[in-house]
Amino acid sequence: MQVIKYVFQPHGDERGQLVSLEEFKDIPFQIKRVYFMYDTEKNVVRGKHAHKNLEQILVCIHGSCKILLDNGHEKKVVPLEKPYEGLYVANDMWREMYDFSPDAVLLVFASEVYDESDYIRDYDEFLKFVKERKNGN
Ligand code: TYD
Repeated sequence: MQVIKYVFQPHGDERGQLVSLEEFKDIPFQIKRVYFMYDTEKNVVRGKHAHKNLEQILVCIHGSCKILLDNGHEKKVVPLEKPYEGLYVANDMWREMYDFSPDAVLLVFASEVYDESDYIRDYDEFLKFVKERKNGN
């Protein structure tokens, strides 16, 4: 499984760091929505879903967390702990976010507006979706 992690170029000087992200340039899609999670309690696992179409870039802009990526065949855990790193998550990837530090802020850039009908929240349904995609259905 290929993990696509972007390393954004900070504009650093003696005053500190600044990261700027533009759609189609730093983010590989049109940004239709931005959301973020914070105050995530210890031992909480968020996500636990895939999408039919949505693409995302996840940036842990403060603190740290881990992302489990699962393409239906293989799983990988990606730690996010730098504000200049962005993890690309394709639609057909089951994702779980966990091990949040108390100060973690996880920022998400999404290619679509919120649409509950785009979610695949059942793991067996996800496996079926991946299999059908592979078979070209
Ligand atoms: P949820 O899908 O449970 O978050 P996650 O899977 O990332 O842990 O979303 C939590 C609530 O927020 C749920 O009621 C739906 C709502 N929500 C929106 O209204 N807009 C959004 O963009 C997102 C991501 C969630």
